[in-house]
Amino acid sequence: MNAMDCIAARKSVREFDARPVEKGKLEQIVRAALCAPTGMHLYDSLHLSVLATHGAVDRFTALARKQSGDVQADPAHGAGALIVVSGKRPNMPVENANAACMIENMLLAATDLKLGSLYVFGAIHSLCGSLQEHDFRKLLNLPDEFTPLGSVALGYCAEKFEPRKEPKNNETKVDFIF
Ligand SMILES: Cc1cc2nc3c(=O)[nH]c(=O)nc-3n(C[C@H](O)[C@H](O)[C@H](O)COP(=O)(O)O)c2cc1C
Repeated sequence: MNAMDCIAARKSVREFDARPVEKGKLEQIVRAALCAPTGMHLYDSLHLSVLATHGAVDRFTALARKQSGDVQADPAHGAGALIVVSGKRPNMPVENANAACMIENMLLAATDLKLGSLYVFGAIHSLCGSLQEHDFRKLLNLPDEFTPLGSVALGYCAEKFEPRKEPKNNETKVDFIF
C-alpha cells in the first residue's frame, strides 16, 4: 500500500476475532514504532511492552475490569495483542508526543499488514495511579522509572476491513497561510 493510501485507510477497529497475531507481524509493527521521530533523540526514555497473545491481553483486561469495577469492561475489545508505550518523563508534553508518534506509526504499520488496530488510552491512563498499578507494571515487565502513556490494540478484524478512503474528520479548521 502506498503511504497516502495507508494513512487514509487506517481506522479504529473495535471488534477482533480469535486469530492470534503472528510474531513476525508484531516484530514489523515494533520496527515501525522504532522508526518514529523522538524529541532530542531520547530513545532510552521510552519502553515498549508487547502483550503478544490473547492470554496476555486478557490479563490486561482483567486488571482494567478490577480497576473500573465494570465486569464487562473490554478496553482492548478482544484484541490478539496490545503494545503499551511507556515513558520516563510522563509529566513532560514531549514524552507524550513521543509515545503518540510511535503509536501512530504502529497503527499505520498494522493497517498495511491488514490488521485491525485501535489507540487505547483511557484504560492505560486509569490503571496508572490505581490500586492495580503494581500488577499492571508486573504484567508489562516495566522498570520503576517508566510510566505507561498509551497503547495499540492489534488483531484480525471480526468483519471484513473496509479501508477508509476519505478522512472522517471534516471539522478541523485548516488555514493555508501564504
Ligand atoms: C490519543 C487518543 C486516545 C484514544 N483513546 C481511545 C480509547 O481509549 N479507546 C478507544 O476505543 N478509542 C480511543 N481512541 C480512538 C478514537 O476514538 C478514534 O481515533 C477517533 O474516534 C477517530 O476515529 P478513527 O480512528 O476511526 O479515524 C483514541 C485516539 C487517540 C488519538
